Amino acid sequence: MKKEIKVAYEDFASLDELSVADKNLCLEAVKAMENSHSPYSKFRVGAALLLKSGKIVYGSNQENVAYPSGLCAERTALFAWGANHPNDPVISMAVTAHTDEFELLKPTTPCGSCLQVIAEYEQKQQQPIQILLYCIKGAIWKTTGIQSFLPFLFFEDRLQ
Ligand code: THU
Repeated sequence: MKKEIKVAYEDFASLDELSVADKNLCLEAVKAMENSHSPYSKFRVGAALLLKSGKIVYGSNQENVAYPSGLCAERTALFAWGANHPNDPVISMAVTAHTDEFELLKPTTPCGSCLQVIAEYEQKQQQPIQILLYCIKGAIWKTTGIQSFLPFLFFEDRLQ
């Protein structure tokens, strides 16, 4: 029997189509990008988390001359949250990217490892994390949680 899973996301043409809170978080992700350490890929990524308290946690990709030692912007932000604000739920996460090497025309989507980490913290806080993927010269894609990216997510209950 063939079965299908559909994933849903919203596609916005510009920041002005977003709520004020979502737009501001996208702009915070641009700010986060300033601290990207990406001399090897020259691909700068910024992530900003909006917490229930209103606090913002920033992350950016941090590369290393020993390439696998670096980390993506999304996990940098999420691990900073886990280490510093674990009891202040993450409401939304915005991600953006820039490179001088070519034009980015589509939102940057998180890698598989970052998706798995988002999933972990959604489970931990028992609340979905809204994800905003902001392309500065293009669209903004929005989902209401990790389920849209990883419908066959590895859940903790599989270990029991
Ligand atoms: N990168 C991120 O930080 N987040 C993503 O969603 C995609 C990729 C980083 C990893 C590396 O520093 C650079 O972008 C190129 O892959």
